[in-house]
Amino acid sequence: FPVTPEELPGRSSQVRCSPTYRPRRLRRIETLRRMVRETVLTVDDLIYPLFVMEGDGQREEVPSMPGCLRFSIDRLLDEVKTAREWGIGAIALFPLIPHSQKDNLGTESYNPDGLIPRAVRAIKQAVPDMLVITDVALDPYSSEGHDGIVKDGKILNDQTVAVLVKQALAQAAAGSDFVAPSDMMDGRVGAIREALNAEGWIDVGILAYSAKYASAYYGPFRDALNSAPKWGDKKTYQMDAANAREALKEVDLDIAEGADIVMVKPALAYLDVICRIKQHTHLPVAAYNVSGEYAMVKAAAAQGWIDEKSVMLETLTSIKRAGADLILTYFAKDAAMILTHDSNP
Ligand code: PBG
Repeated sequence: FPVTPEELPGRSSQVRCSPTYRPRRLRRIETLRRMVRETVLTVDDLIYPLFVMEGDGQREEVPSMPGCLRFSIDRLLDEVKTAREWGIGAIALFPLIPHSQKDNLGTESYNPDGLIPRAVRAIKQAVPDMLVITDVALDPYSSEGHDGIVKDGKILNDQTVAVLVKQALAQAAAGSDFVAPSDMMDGRVGAIREALNAEGWIDVGILAYSAKYASAYYGPFRDALNSAPKWGDKKTYQMDAANAREALKEVDLDIAEGADIVMVKPALAYLDVICRIKQHTHLPVAAYNVSGEYAMVKAAAAQGWIDEKSVMLETLTSIKRAGADLILTYFAKDAAMILTHDSNP
């Protein structure tokens, strides 16, 4: 629309606009915007969560997580190699356990030849410099779909910790670099650290799900692993979404017990928690951009309602800006592709 100088309101004698500071000066062109950018997402920030299943040559898409697959170990190796080639340095593994192997005690979770130990050994042999993080919790192995042993409708804390310790030791023996307790039982980080030390696994680290909320955003993940609770919810062990100070308490405990990295989960609805924890601790802070957050972006993008690539990069950047040093995200491979191949993402 043609605007003549006489028509511009700023030119009129009544309106004076001549600010000393013009923040827009620093937004003028892309090279300048890049120079003053405060947060730069890189592939080194990303951890790629992967679902592993039994079988040969298997690849199944998770219906509620388009673009996310469950892999049998042989196919998983191809995915891990590709991820490594694209610059991803760490993966987090989650198992789909056949129902016949599930029980209330999560016995299969510490089978030294179980799905996860076999997957870890295969990955470490095929891609030795890929950092492997294994989840420590009973839910994929529990006939009840809970993260701990159930008795009379309650989740037993200390008895569960005894099983988690065995699970962590089996994972360490298989070659896991980090064990990641996601169960939210009290005292588990300390018990796992002590057992790892006693068995000589001094270099195996603990990535603690310190502030893990009882969240409705985990739905698609539970579809992926067929691990939804058979009854009730997880509110007696996972945190109340309304609490932030309590997250600092959880972080303090996990650090005192020997955590190497602390994590907030989910990420997007908890950016304030990430920010507060970052100000509170000197440890690296991780955040989990969970399955429901992924599914929402995918669903809206599939409808043509949002631009997937831009929303993905904006989301991951905002999680880093909030204070996360590391981001677990199902977008890791897509983001890595852009960050390593696109000169101007
Ligand atoms: C299990 C576990 C869950 C997730 C990671 N580990 C689900 C749960 O606590 O029910 C969720 C991850 C996601 O939603 O992407 N302890």
